[in-house]
Amino acid sequence: MTERDMTQSIAEGGRKPSAASIIERCRALEGGGLRTFADASPLVLERAVGSWLEDVEGRRYLDLSGLYAVANIGHAHPSVVAAIAAQAAQLIHCPSAYPSRVRAEFYEAVASIVPKELHSILPAMSGAMANEVAVLIARTRRPKGRIVSFSGSYFGRSTGVVGLAGKTHYRDVLGLEAQAQFVPFPYPLNMGPDATDKVLALLETLTGPAGGVGELAAVMLEPIQGNGGIVIPPDDFLPRLRAFCDRTGALLIADEIQSGCGRSGRMWAVEHGGVLPDLMTIGKGIGGGMAVAAVVGRPELMTWAPDTYSSTFLTNNVNLAAATAAIGVMREEKLAQRSAALGEKYLGIMRQRLNGAPGVAEVRGKGLWIAVEHADAQGKPDGKTASSIIRRLRNEQVIVGGGGYAGHVVKIQPPLNIDESDLAQGIDKWTAAVLAQSDR
Ligand SMILES: Cc1ncc(COP(=O)(O)O)c(C=O)c1O
Repeated sequence: MTERDMTQSIAEGGRKPSAASIIERCRALEGGGLRTFADASPLVLERAVGSWLEDVEGRRYLDLSGLYAVANIGHAHPSVVAAIAAQAAQLIHCPSAYPSRVRAEFYEAVASIVPKELHSILPAMSGAMANEVAVLIARTRRPKGRIVSFSGSYFGRSTGVVGLAGKTHYRDVLGLEAQAQFVPFPYPLNMGPDATDKVLALLETLTGPAGGVGELAAVMLEPIQGNGGIVIPPDDFLPRLRAFCDRTGALLIADEIQSGCGRSGRMWAVEHGGVLPDLMTIGKGIGGGMAVAAVVGRPELMTWAPDTYSSTFLTNNVNLAAATAAIGVMREEKLAQRSAALGEKYLGIMRQRLNGAPGVAEVRGKGLWIAVEHADAQGKPDGKTASSIIRRLRNEQVIVGGGGYAGHVVKIQPPLNIDESDLAQGIDKWTAAVLAQSDR
């Protein structure tokens, strides 16, 4: 305990600290820029088990957010907790220079759930890091090649990928330049049913002889955009983009960090389009709550010389053991199938209740990944309504996520093994909150 903590604890008379005091202590010492500062009264978590969160003052919340789409197998799954405890007692730190049984098991577990052609694996510690590695692989192959990215994309906040984000704000605040050639993501609600034709025509023009973009190293995208607001491209988009990459020799990099691990009703969202990317990045749910990510790809692309890539904690054995256990849970509990079945049912219910309601531009989703996009009377994105619904639900002890280019989308990405009665109650509260807003 630091002197400051001690003073705080004495001031609180040995009681459990209040949420407000913890926020104050964090804010006093935390550098600016973290999300803690984005909310006037952020939730101060003390426990998270299954689909339930508990704050430091003992209030319980139903977690329909997966805490940023991580808790695909629920929080503190017993298999993951047991794997962490056993591994922590055995071998915690294991640098990547030292092969280990745990690492072999992790690779084999990943190989058992990714497309069989993508059986070379490089571990990473965050989604951003995995994406940086994927970009480096593409650049190694075509050093002068450009990267194509899409409006609304989100690949993480590190220097190597924030310049590929399809939202200028993320790099402008850091003084960084764009690092990609941007094209619109096919967004059926805004672009109509021929969105794929429009986007591919633009891509052909930009990368053609008169387009000025030149050789491409890679086309990088989320097969379904998460942060962008669960934007689902038309069915023909991925196959036609694959054909474009084959013709131009650009690598197709699919970021499955949010869309993967069963979230969209398939293990990977690219499966909906029947498409095989050259490289795929995975993260979030793969670690069962621990910081694990990876790049998987065709072996002929993953041919760096030894010691080209490393980091001290890259292959932490506790994290990898947790990921292996989490992958086991996804398979044993058949979570992708459950996501598909529950997702279809509750998307149907939500559409029945909300389609046509004032202020609701669209209800969409795939698997247990459902979004409501809000628009005002003029049809403009309505971020204010979305935030007020998120706030109202928090007051009703239900946590949902937000997204969209104008913060105008409310979305859920709950644990895929959530009790159906909890999910139904959460959906009831969500739809009631939207309808209450529509009535105003
Ligand atoms: C699609 C996608 N890619 C990459 C990332 C970045 O992952 P991380 O926050 O682990 O760096 C995120 C995080 O939200 C994401 O949604």
